[in-house]
Amino acid sequence: ALPRDLVGRRVVVSAGGTREALDPVRFLGNRSSGRQGYALARVAAQRGAHVTLVAAHTADLADPAAVDVVRTGSARDLRETMLAAVKGADVVVMAAAVADFRPVALAEHKIKKGSADPEPLQLTTNPDILAELVREREPGQVVVGFAAETGDESGDVLQHGRAKLARKGCDLLVVNAVGDGKAFEMPDNAGWLLGADGTETELPTGSKALLASRVWDVVAPRLS
Ligand code: C5P
Repeated sequence: ALPRDLVGRRVVVSAGGTREALDPVRFLGNRSSGRQGYALARVAAQRGAHVTLVAAHTADLADPAAVDVVRTGSARDLRETMLAAVKGADVVVMAAAVADFRPVALAEHKIKKGSADPEPLQLTTNPDILAELVREREPGQVVVGFAAETGDESGDVLQHGRAKLARKGCDLLVVNAVGDGKAFEMPDNAGWLLGADGTETELPTGSKALLASRVWDVVAPRLS
């Protein structure tokens, strides 16, 4: 049986990939399926938490049982929804793949094909939601980030993860290796859970539900 160690806790999880509109029919997106975030939300609910799942674009996934699902689109939508949802939350998990950049301009009408090449796409930087959630964190709130890192050796991936954890200022960071058919769009996941206190928990290869369970095993005892 699953532990009931999140009873009475409020958990907010973001999942999926943001879409940044270019015109009414086109967007810049990414390959995030949302599966890992959905698994984190589902397992937290099974362990007794009250869970809000803030979903950007995902694969065709069923809403997890007993979870409040809120849908969003762009990074800026996701930011607004998260800032509202995290009020009073015990744990915040940013599993969403947030676009780092968005087009400067949103064309009112569909961009037409002409005889000349199109203008180069102009991009601007999106807000870093995780960094903002860390800055605005309530006392006792545990903030968990994700880092999808590429690297040939696990050393590279871990090193990047440690640096990112320090930069973002979150309490915990799930680091996983991506690329080469790893993690994105796949049922399995693996990596490390790094703590700002220097702890390091290996997350062995397994289902995204298993990885979610290992993450909650580390988070639950940290809640005051
Ligand atoms: O810097 P990087 O994008 O690798 O950081 C990944 C982590 O930061 C994830 O937890 C992701 O949800 C979050 N993030 C964010 N806002 C952004 C970019 C990433 O919250 N604009």
